[in-house]
Amino acid sequence: MDKALGDDGHRAVPPGERSELMKRIFSGVQPTGNLHLGNYLGAIRNWVQLQSDYECIFCIVDLHAITLPQDPDELRRHTREVTAAYVAAGIDPERCIIFNQSTVAGHSQLSWLLGCLTPLGWLNRMTQFKEKAGKHRENAGLGLYAYPVLMAADILLYKATHVPVGEDQKQHLELARDIAGAFNRRYDLAYFPLPEPQILGAATRVMSLRDGTSKMSKSDPSDYSRINMTDDADTVALKIRRAKTDPEPIPEDVEALEGRPEAANLVGIYGALANLSRAEVCRQYGGKGFADFKKDLSDLAVSVMGPIGAEMQRLVSEPGYVDDILRRGAERANEIAERHIKEVHDIIGLLRP
Ligand code: AMP
Ligand code: TRP
Repeated sequence: MDKALGDDGHRAVPPGERSELMKRIFSGVQPTGNLHLGNYLGAIRNWVQLQSDYECIFCIVDLHAITLPQDPDELRRHTREVTAAYVAAGIDPERCIIFNQSTVAGHSQLSWLLGCLTPLGWLNRMTQFKEKAGKHRENAGLGLYAYPVLMAADILLYKATHVPVGEDQKQHLELARDIAGAFNRRYDLAYFPLPEPQILGAATRVMSLRDGTSKMSKSDPSDYSRINMTDDADTVALKIRRAKTDPEPIPEDVEALEGRPEAANLVGIYGALANLSRAEVCRQYGGKGFADFKKDLSDLAVSVMGPIGAEMQRLVSEPGYVDDILRRGAERANEIAERHIKEVHDIIGLLRP
C-alpha cells in the first residue's frame, strides 16, 4: 500500500499541511489599467480587513490580462500600478504575499493539469466568456476560453479556503469548486479544499456612472463611467456631477429605489464609502435633490479615495520599491506552489525521475 494513505483509505494530507488548510485567502486583480471604485469597494478594501484574520495571498494576475491583447509597456506599468494600489489601500506586504502571477510557474502548470479534467460543457456556461468573446466567438483565443481554469489553478495552487471577490466572479468561483471536486473524486482523496467565495461589503457590484444597469468596468470606453483610483479631486467632482440620475429626489424609503438603477447606484456608493446602509442614506437624504447629494458624495469620495490615489502615485514613482515587494512575494508564493505541484504530480502519476 502507498505509505501516504491515511486511516480512512484516502490518501492523507501531508504533515504540516493541516494547519495551512485552516484559513488561507487568495484573490487577484488583472493589470489591465483604470483601477476604479468598483475594484476598491468590491474587492481591495475588503482584503485590508481580512489580512489580520487570514493568511493572505494577493496576486496581480498578468496571465489573465493577456487573454485579451495588451501593450507590453502598458502591461508592465499596470502591474506596478495594481501593486501600488494594494499597498496604498493598506495591504501590508510583510504580512501578506503580494506577487504577479507569471513569476510563479505553478499557475500555468496546474492550469494544464486541471484543464485535463474540466469538461467543455462547464466552460460553455461561463457568461464572462460569452460577453468578452462577443459575436465572433470563432476568433476568441483559447486563453480567453480557458480563463476560468487558470483562475481555479490560482486558488487551488495554494489550497486557498476563502476567495474575496466582487459579485461578477461568483460563477468562476463555483467552477473552481467544481474543478476541485472533480480532482478529488478522480483521485479519491480530499486533496483540494473547496474554496468559499467571500462576496463582502455594501458594494459588491458598483455600476457605471453613465448607465446604472451595466457594471463599472476598466474597459468601458467612457472615462466618465467610472471613478479611477488615481483621479484627482476635480475629476472626481466633475464625474459625479455628470453622473446620470433621474428627475425624482432621493426617496425616504429605500424600497423606492427599485426601478431607479442610477439613483440606487449613487446611494449605494455613498453608503459603501460612509459605512452606512442604503436605508440609512435614504433616511439622511430623503426628499433632497441630486444636486446637494452629489456635492456631498463627491466630497466623501475625495476624502476616502484622495489619500489612496496620492499614495499610489507616490509608490509608482518608486518602481524599485514596488519591484522588491513583487520579488519577495514571488519567492514566498513559489515555496508553497512548488511543494503543491510536486504533490499533485505524485497524485496524478507524473514521474519525477
Ligand atoms: P477585475 O477588474 O476584473 O480584475 O476585477 C478585480 C476585482 O474587482 C474582482 O474581485 C472583481 O469582482 C472586482 N470588481 C470589478 N468590477 C467591480 C464592480 N463594478 N463592482 C464591484 N466589484 C468589482
Ligand atoms: N478573474 C478575476 C477578475 O477578473 C481575477 C482573478 C484571477 C481572480 N484569478 C483569481 C480572483 C483568483 C480571485 C481568485 O476579477
